[in-house]
Amino acid sequence: MSTSNPVVSTGHPRHVFLAIIGATGGVSTHFLSQLEALSHRYLSLARSPIRLSLVYVARSRTSVLAEYHNPITFAHWSDALATSTKEPLPPQALADYLSKAPGRAVVIDNTSNQEVAESYPLFLKKGVSVVTPNKKAFSSDLALWEDIFSSAANGSGPEGAGYVFHESTVGAGLPVINTLKDLLETGDIVTKIEGVFSGTMSFLFNSFMPVGGGGGKFSAEVKNAKDLGYTEPDPRDDLNGMDVARKLTILARLCGVKVASPTGFPVQSLIPSELETCKSGDEFMSRLHEFDGKIEDVKNEAEKEGKVVRYVGSVDVHTGAVDVGLQKFDVSHPIAALKGSDNIINFYTHRYGKNPLTIVGAGAGGDVTAMGVTADLIRVLNHLY
Ligand SMILES: NC(=O)c1ccc[n+]([C@@H]2O[C@H](COP(=O)([O-])OP(=O)(O)OC[C@H]3O[C@@H](n4cnc5c(N)ncnc54)[C@H](OP(=O)(O)O)[C@@H]3O)[C@@H](O)[C@H]2O)c1
Repeated sequence: MSTSNPVVSTGHPRHVFLAIIGATGGVSTHFLSQLEALSHRYLSLARSPIRLSLVYVARSRTSVLAEYHNPITFAHWSDALATSTKEPLPPQALADYLSKAPGRAVVIDNTSNQEVAESYPLFLKKGVSVVTPNKKAFSSDLALWEDIFSSAANGSGPEGAGYVFHESTVGAGLPVINTLKDLLETGDIVTKIEGVFSGTMSFLFNSFMPVGGGGGKFSAEVKNAKDLGYTEPDPRDDLNGMDVARKLTILARLCGVKVASPTGFPVQSLIPSELETCKSGDEFMSRLHEFDGKIEDVKNEAEKEGKVVRYVGSVDVHTGAVDVGLQKFDVSHPIAALKGSDNIINFYTHRYGKNPLTIVGAGAGGDVTAMGVTADLIRVLNHLY
């Protein structure tokens, strides 16, 4: 077994029961294959510390529930879900079912669903842990954030409560949240966090205004990014900046800045105000070229100053100011030098001084996002036993 997994055997395998909500999505497909490998690794140990049992899988309309908590095999969950006619369990019923399992249970929420996100406190209070890349729970109302962490054993919840981990909500599998927690918990003072937090925006601006010149019209670059699968099916969901705003909300809150919601600070939308009433993504895409001139002016102005334009987010921890939008950077700045759809996150802290602690790499993609989820699951397992 990998030395990176510090689970220690105490003789008898501990049984952990897993429920996966959103089992058929892009992240889940990779997560389930990583989970199967992890489960086999545990089983291959002479004195296996943990046995993982899959007892519930769901997608938006259907689900499969293991009767009497008898595991669903990794070879069969997909076929069983494809032929199932059973609706997903409401969160309360799922929490009741999991809390009655003959061992600890973990819910893996691989959806982006708000209702599922709002049910985390319910699971945690019943001793069921939660692992998720879903940003909704951590970036909606502050009251939900507070409810989650006051219900969790790794917050201020009681002993016996579930644990909650959400590394993949910012920067996908990049170690952003755990690094921030390590900085804070070891007593460093984080003064500012700044970076490119969206793979889509990274790709878009690296193509629209590459260092060294060139790049096409903005509308053509958005179309290209959409055709290559870098944007959401409706690119307005990326261009409105809300995905980045949600990530900044999470980072700010981890630093103790009580951001009320992702709409509670300035977020620059790249949707021209004249196109805000477009009825569909297609209508928006067909008219976006009419507004190329505006953003071309921003590009030309930056070019004259020897700079490039990038879509960034920042948190000033001291003042509590959070900001998301376009900024100009010298071509020698690490944010300007970003490649492809990579993310970059700079942590400015007292210990690191003038040169920030920097994390760079793929900030999206099923495989890397699933890695963050699987690593979080291993964190829960290490806490449970
Ligand atoms: N993909 C990435 O690169 C990435 C990076 C970082 C974070 N994330 C986050 O990871 C999560 C999953 O992303 P994804 O790309 O895998 O999404 P996706 O491909 O759209 O998959 C979503 C899954 O959730 C299911 N689902 C939706 N609502 C549900 C409900 N109410 N109950 C049960 N299942 C439900 C869907 O089922 P149906 O197919 O039946 O609708 C599908 O299986 C999201 O929160 C996303 O923001 C993704």
